[in-house]
Amino acid sequence: MRHLLILGPPGAGKGTQSVLIAERLHIKHLSTGDVLRNAVEEKSELGLKAKAIIEAGSLVSDDIMIGIIYDALKVKGMRKGFILDGFPRTIKQAAALDVLLSELGYPPILVINIVVPEEELIQRMLGRGRNDDSADTARHRLAIFREQTEPLIEHYSKKSALINIDGVGTIGEINDRIFERLNAC
Ligand code: AP5
Ligand code: MG
Repeated sequence: MRHLLILGPPGAGKGTQSVLIAERLHIKHLSTGDVLRNAVEEKSELGLKAKAIIEAGSLVSDDIMIGIIYDALKVKGMRKGFILDGFPRTIKQAAALDVLLSELGYPPILVINIVVPEEELIQRMLGRGRNDDSADTARHRLAIFREQTEPLIEHYSKKSALINIDGVGTIGEINDRIFERLNAC
């Protein structure tokens, strides 16, 4: 049973690796980006609020995101293990997650931090072609990552187990690197 969190800049391969990890460990994959994109597709209240923010590559408010995670973590199936992808993204979200995990009685999470150089990230995002993957938006998302999300690496290296993974290579090579480290702890 694993409770994991995957960190890394936009385009690092968090989604790609999370799907593989969740399949292999039989745990739930929770991507906040996917939750928001589905809400936009369904034109729900959340989707209507989030659409312009996502397209601009900015962050949806902490309160909305914390509410989404709060509801998701209460679901029974999550007890059997999960991998969080795209959350937390700010120190406020990380602090809320710490409280939530301890309130709900989850064990400490293990953090996988994927490291990829900036130029490669831009290439990957442009190659994918999602709505928020234009060159300008990709750069904006990277700037927000550096400013708001990167400090979480320090937050977690102080209080949780954090595994740094070199995210350059084939998808399979990176997956092997992750499992080599996961199997050791
Ligand atoms: P989100 O969907 O989380 O986007 P992101 O963090 O910017 O990350 P990406 O999904 O772009 O990249 P990824 O690391 O998952 O890489 P992927 O596997 O796709 O969030 C989108 C938006 O939602 C945010 O901008 C924000 O507005 C909002 N949001 C979400 N969560 C939020 C939160 N907590 N708070 C506030 N707002 C929030 O890979 C990228 C590409 O590279 C793919 O084409 C893939 O096939 C390819 N690839 C993967 N691995 C490799 C490899 N090894 N070699 C070559 N190519 C590869
Ligand atoms: Mg993703």
